[in-house]
Amino acid sequence: MCGIIGYVGEHQAVPVILDGLRRLEYRGYDSAGLAVMGAETIEVLRAAGKLANLEELAFDQPPRGSVGVGHTRWATHGAPTEANAHPQVDADGHIAVVHNGILENYADLRRELLDQGVPLASDTDTELIAQLLGRATGSLFERVEAVLSRLVGQFAVVAVSRDEPNTVVAFRNGPPLVVGVGDDEMIVASDVVALLHRTKRVIYLENGDIAVVHQHEAHIHNDGRAVDRPVETLDWDAGRMDKGGFRHYMLKEIHEQPDAIRNTVRAYLNADRTAVNLGDLGFDHDRLAEVRRIHLVACGTSWHACLVGKFLIERLTGLPTEVDYGSEYRYREPLVGPDVLVVGVTQSGETADTLAAMELGKDAGALLGTICNVRGSSSWRMAQARMLTQAGPEIGVASTKAFTTQLVAMVLLALALRQVRGLSDGTDTEIIRQLLRLPLAIEQAIEGSEEAYDQATQLLAEATDSLFLGRGCLYPIALEGALKLKEISYLHAEGYPAGEMKHGPIALLTEGFPIVTVAPATPTREKLLGNLMEVRARGAVVIAVAEREAADVAQVADIVLPIPAVDRLLQPIVTTIPLQLLAYRVAVELGLDVDQPRNLAKSVTVE
Ligand code: F6R
Repeated sequence: MCGIIGYVGEHQAVPVILDGLRRLEYRGYDSAGLAVMGAETIEVLRAAGKLANLEELAFDQPPRGSVGVGHTRWATHGAPTEANAHPQVDADGHIAVVHNGILENYADLRRELLDQGVPLASDTDTELIAQLLGRATGSLFERVEAVLSRLVGQFAVVAVSRDEPNTVVAFRNGPPLVVGVGDDEMIVASDVVALLHRTKRVIYLENGDIAVVHQHEAHIHNDGRAVDRPVETLDWDAGRMDKGGFRHYMLKEIHEQPDAIRNTVRAYLNADRTAVNLGDLGFDHDRLAEVRRIHLVACGTSWHACLVGKFLIERLTGLPTEVDYGSEYRYREPLVGPDVLVVGVTQSGETADTLAAMELGKDAGALLGTICNVRGSSSWRMAQARMLTQAGPEIGVASTKAFTTQLVAMVLLALALRQVRGLSDGTDTEIIRQLLRLPLAIEQAIEGSEEAYDQATQLLAEATDSLFLGRGCLYPIALEGALKLKEISYLHAEGYPAGEMKHGPIALLTEGFPIVTVAPATPTREKLLGNLMEVRARGAVVIAVAEREAADVAQVADIVLPIPAVDRLLQPIVTTIPLQLLAYRVAVELGLDVDQPRNLAKSVTVE
């Protein structure tokens, strides 16, 4: 959701804040702002729209000062206007606040402040925090302590006060905050990507923490007591966060998949690469052996990875596996207990709904695991056993390499469960061999066929609707392909199991209707081809993802997006690539903002 940064240090704050916001912009980009502690006043700049508008404002006469806060917004309360952009200030302009999250008691607090005659200048819940802090008394820390109990909901807040020109105060309940510890500066941020290029030493704040941050030190309190939080050293490489010569982050990240997959596979194998190394997974062998059922919880693209995971785990281990949306799990009263392994699958490790589902599992005594792309994130710290997908930072809002590495992690998890249950045999070594060869297959899939992509792109770019069809564990890949197209090209696309077409959706078909299908060699391919004949008979045009040499598919499909032949278990991973490239090309063809699609944000930290 929103990106937050706070700076206190040796240097001018504005360039550091703008640079940090540029790196955070993928978390929200409908307005932006900053506040800098001047000699006597807090100077606030805000602009609706992309960060470039704020940069332009700051360019001519940047506010001078070495303490400040900045924000890039994904609107919750109030339209994305200048007035609703952050920082928000109190009535006297003494305190400035940036905020990520939602105050659930917004309406009550707003009414209370209006009844007290406080003039409100915005529709935001954030302004209410600034006004409450302004009306409290004492130091900024004391004011935060006094106001904290009045705030209901999920929030991460960074505040500065004119009366304490060398201090930034940060507090959280829910969305993440980290304090970066530099040599002559401290940077508070909602995400390590904002500060990684300045320091790799970070302190993760816990829920309820209030951090009083000065240039050389940070004092953290929780529930009225001073607490020590460890300084951790990040192993991410800041250099991997530029576009590296590609036109968009999404395209760069698609091309990074062979490496990301290679690294994820290697991270969890033993030295001679013949078995999964359970120790590295962090699983307690005995505890894992007690597991009788598996619940996979996630949202969006990560949920699609879970659907594939269910096929893999059930097929390879026989353990009944359920998949839930994070936002539904806790409201359906799931049958969960100590014999269940609950795995929160989340790229960011910060998705509020997934975290809430994990929390439920933990409270019920389940063994709690996570598959996650961010070491140190909330899901990482909550879980008892963790698998880190080695995708590295993903900046494009539409997930690509984080998804395919999640699929790899699912295969590794299934192998780990086989090992613990004494099921390992020659199958396992063969799967591992295939996994080690997978990066090459991904490279070949990325190469594709220029002509086929051009034709398919044209067809979709001129359409308003499309259907994506798959069967078995390729049906979730159809869902993912449709989601990618929706997200970045704004074209309506739905994923369906191919066999379901005649139970309703076939009524949609007219002459030229595009059908995209995931059709590698499987035992059900003939049935899928039958389904495709039915749609073609009704005028649909078929784009198929299939092996270059698949003559039977070529006979039925109008366009084939080629992939190399791979083992059935790995087909979901390889067939994803053409669908990513297709969505990307369609968005580019339509002239859309591929990396920052409208209305979206990378990390969804509110319910
Ligand atoms: C789509 C996408 C989202 C996320 C979802 C959950 O491309 O990335 O659907 O998968 O918002 O996010 P994580 O995986 O961070 O929990």
